[in-house]
Amino acid sequence: MEAVHAGAHGHDHGHHPTGLMRWITTTNHKDIGTMYLWFSFTMFMVGGAMAMVIRAELFEPGLQIVSPEFFNQMITLHALIMVFGAIMPAFVGFANWMIPLQIGASDMAFARMNNWSFWILPVAGSMLILSLFVPGGAAGTGWTMYPPLSIQMGMGMDFAIFGLHLLGMSSIMGSINIITTILNLRAPGMSLMRMPLFCWTWLITAYLLLAVMPVLAGAITMLLTDRHFGTSFFNAAGGGDPVMFQHIFWFFGHPEVYIIALPAFGVISQVIPAFSRKHIFGYASMVYAIAAIALISFFVWAHHMFTTGIPLTGQLYFMYATMLIAVPTGVKVFNWTATMWKGALSFETPMLFAIGFLFLFTLGGFSGLVCAITAIDIQLQDTYYVVAHFHYVMVAGALFSAYAGAYYWLPKWTGHMYNETLGKLHFWLTLIFFNMTFFVQHFLGLAGMPRRVPDYALQFAEFNKISSIGSFGLGISQLLFLYIVIKTIKGGPKAGDKPWDGAEGLEWTVPSPAPHHTFEDPPVIK
Ligand code: CU
Repeated sequence: MEAVHAGAHGHDHGHHPTGLMRWITTTNHKDIGTMYLWFSFTMFMVGGAMAMVIRAELFEPGLQIVSPEFFNQMITLHALIMVFGAIMPAFVGFANWMIPLQIGASDMAFARMNNWSFWILPVAGSMLILSLFVPGGAAGTGWTMYPPLSIQMGMGMDFAIFGLHLLGMSSIMGSINIITTILNLRAPGMSLMRMPLFCWTWLITAYLLLAVMPVLAGAITMLLTDRHFGTSFFNAAGGGDPVMFQHIFWFFGHPEVYIIALPAFGVISQVIPAFSRKHIFGYASMVYAIAAIALISFFVWAHHMFTTGIPLTGQLYFMYATMLIAVPTGVKVFNWTATMWKGALSFETPMLFAIGFLFLFTLGGFSGLVCAITAIDIQLQDTYYVVAHFHYVMVAGALFSAYAGAYYWLPKWTGHMYNETLGKLHFWLTLIFFNMTFFVQHFLGLAGMPRRVPDYALQFAEFNKISSIGSFGLGISQLLFLYIVIKTIKGGPKAGDKPWDGAEGLEWTVPSPAPHHTFEDPPVIK
């Protein structure tokens, strides 16, 4: 609140920091949201470049471009940077921008802590990237950091551990801020069950983060003490158990999937009603489905561990519990579809990405059900089928909905409309190249190609070539998005206060672009 005060007077009297200092010291939720989004896109480019290295090496059989050690480092950093640097900050960026607007708050509850949450990120991201340049290079363990390998790795592993600790701190502070903002700063009349669904998904996601980030921090701290301080948590020679790491890691790791997916669901739940000109179908059941998914996500972790020798009864329990998540997820997919049913649909870029999400995320959900079947998963473990599955969830799920949200809210953020033709081109290129890259990986996995290996047998050559060409196309077409955004910021047709014909719902109680301090001078909507 102190920050809001300073802003209100500061900009009247002209002693508000400008230039770089504005961004370093800002406590404004819109500035911080913008920085989160730019940071996210930067990390997306870095993580994407690493994916290009991976796909270039896999373009044909044999070792051509990088050493196996460097290949493993790319695999690890690509995942860590995409999950913690690109996807999560993107949705925190949306949260910062949209939650105060959607619930009628003047800013986030802890505005200065919000600044800190953000500025930890570039430091953490730099630690991950800089680890490439320390002796021995970055961690080559994969993002799961399983011991005993992660105990033997060089100091790049310590960089990854410290980087993850910082990212966890940032997430925990962000979550405290989001929960407090939503529970305390809603405008009169904005009861919880009237909140836009994007706020609901973030409220529940923030609790998930609070619950599992400390678990990850615990796991990697135990790893750190095993590495440097003589403990044997995960060292069998000292009486420890490497499989215990997997239990702790996946107790964090599975809910983490929903930390990524739920805010994506929230964005989709805003976009589909707007472009269907209807209210969301089954609002209350959507809220309960989000809560149910979040709750069940705590009790399915060992579906990542079917090949570690857990008892058959355990395998059966984790199989059925995992399949149970399909029920609330099915409720959501049904409700999104029912929202479109007999709606006055239009297909601007945000809606195209939302429908792309709906189709492809459901496909990723189905391949998830396939992986959940213990008997099948034992065959598919560590193959490209799993890689295909989670890229349908992560890319078609998180990336497509992040694009849906970005195109949907860009007019409100910048005051300008983006170029619709280029937006649609971006969608179709992304859709085609995404499927070209990842659909064939199902076949590679079913045929037995292992993941995280830089070389492969001759029979996998064709599908790998298709996948690599698709990935280069996918990477290059994302530059189009950068061009579209910069062009929209610099100019373009005026968005008007209701850029989508007034079908946008509650967050549009502000004009375009939203004023720097939204609720200081009540805006007039025509
Ligand atoms: Cu899982």
